[in-house]
Amino acid sequence: MRTKFAVFLSLLSAIALAEPAPSDLIANPSARTTISLDGTWNTVVDPFETGISARFYENRKPKDESDLVEYSFDASQKLKVPGDWNTQRESLFLYEGPIWYQRYFSYGKRSHTRVFLYFGAANYLARVWLNGTKLGEHVGGFTAFNFEITDVIASGENSLVVEVNNTRHADGVPPLSTDWWNYGGLTRSVEVVEVPNTFIQDYSVQLTKGISDEVTGWVQFNGKNPPEKAALAIPEAGIRQEAKLDASGRAEFRFHTQLQLWSPENPKLYRVIISGGEDSVIDEIGFRTVETRGTQILLNGRPIFLRGISMHEEAPFRGGRAFSEEDDRTLLGWAQELGCNFVRLAHYPHNEELIRLADRMGILVWSEVPVYWDVDWTNPATLENAEAQLRDNIARDHNRAAVILWSLSNETPVGAPRTNFLKTLAGYVRQLDSTRLITSAMNHTEASGPDARRLSDPLGQFLDVLGLNEYVGWYEHAPEDADRIQWSFAYDKPLIVSEFGGGALYGKHGHTGTRFTEEYQANLFEHQLKMLEKIPSLAGMSPWVLMDFYSPRRFLPGVQDFRNRKGLLSERGQRKQAFYILQKFYREKKEKQP
Ligand code: GCU
Repeated sequence: MRTKFAVFLSLLSAIALAEPAPSDLIANPSARTTISLDGTWNTVVDPFETGISARFYENRKPKDESDLVEYSFDASQKLKVPGDWNTQRESLFLYEGPIWYQRYFSYGKRSHTRVFLYFGAANYLARVWLNGTKLGEHVGGFTAFNFEITDVIASGENSLVVEVNNTRHADGVPPLSTDWWNYGGLTRSVEVVEVPNTFIQDYSVQLTKGISDEVTGWVQFNGKNPPEKAALAIPEAGIRQEAKLDASGRAEFRFHTQLQLWSPENPKLYRVIISGGEDSVIDEIGFRTVETRGTQILLNGRPIFLRGISMHEEAPFRGGRAFSEEDDRTLLGWAQELGCNFVRLAHYPHNEELIRLADRMGILVWSEVPVYWDVDWTNPATLENAEAQLRDNIARDHNRAAVILWSLSNETPVGAPRTNFLKTLAGYVRQLDSTRLITSAMNHTEASGPDARRLSDPLGQFLDVLGLNEYVGWYEHAPEDADRIQWSFAYDKPLIVSEFGGGALYGKHGHTGTRFTEEYQANLFEHQLKMLEKIPSLAGMSPWVLMDFYSPRRFLPGVQDFRNRKGLLSERGQRKQAFYILQKFYREKKEKQP
């Protein structure tokens, strides 16, 4: 008689084979001919989900005065796109449910051109219609998606309708409970993208893993008449390579070259031109190697210490989901001012422009999908959802030198279903991208003595780099207890302490024993940093968190007011005392290890 668990395992391994289809994302859309659909959209708030039965997607107008139509996009309230709805309208701050977006746009059809509709993100479920024809659906609040509309788009006026529903689900990714605001809406840009009939769908141009003078690349064409050959050029390096396409429309490259290596000190990007047939795409790509050796992380073959900070995609000053270049520059500018060469983008993929900015600024990136806390580990649909979000995150950013770590999850409970789920994800990521490191933020450790803590989470065996979230001095112990605590690890792998910290309201002062004072937070950082410095395998850290952020779990009136206050900066950019403590620590760290 097979145990239930044995049955579950065989089901899971069977399901694990049922991976999502390959990504159909158009690579680097900003390099294409695009028509922006950002701006003011008509919106209908639909708390009782009547829009489908009422066929909102038809955007119908009454034929005459006797015709009954009980909605009107034209006469409805507006919302800006991109942007969450929660911070655009007081009545929507806590709203969870569907909101229907609609806008018109004109288009002039062109021959030999295919047309796609590209969404940077929509949280959480999006259903899309163009001129009343359903294009498809997308699940996941932080990954890009596109639909081909070549045969649906009209010459002249078009009506685009998108239902976005941010309702949380126990089987979702993330599941029901998170410590961040559930910002709903078309939270990133929407655009029409034009490509030739046969076009370059995706490409990869990177250094071969661990080889700093060899480039490995591939180009994938999409269309009925793929060219015989594809070309890859890096003009500044005097490189032009050609390769034949195979029957699947893919060409592969591998060639020797000496390029300036990308690094935080020298974030060198090369203009790369990928071409073939009637298409060509230009990208800015950095070349570097990343690997581990024992408990070290090596960048371009040299040990590096990741001086990091965790950050949410929260808009400075105005609050809400960050999306603009100004938001990105402010947030990464603060990280750079702190002395960071590394950011942990918690707990979901951030917008593409932020990753490209990190490429230009020389800031290394930990990129994460929202497999967060208590996920529905035994649900095959949940596994496939997580895989699809990893697939799309990797598909979008796999040419970005700054991204060195793919994170599978955050703070998940140790147990066989969870470990098998994450083991499956680890295998899937390695299939998709063997050049980067895999990590995850773990937080289950055991007391291995009166002042000894040990991380032996079984998940660690499937990771290249261990992530540890620990809150000595905040959720456990007093800050001073950190002085006595010794850490040990069941794996001889690099460690990133991916979270530690404590809350403080900017401008609240008292002695170091008073919670939520800047002094308490500063004192906690002092003791934490001394404790972490003693860990031989410490290869980096990303304290929690750059800036205070909205969370529906933080209620303390006059102190939190729906904000998590562990930021080193307030939401208004005010630097707390702990900011300067970490800044000093990183300055000294950098001086010791250039
Ligand atoms: C957790 C979690 C964060 C959360 C933080 C906190 O470790 O990973 O998402 O915001 O702790 O409690 O502030």
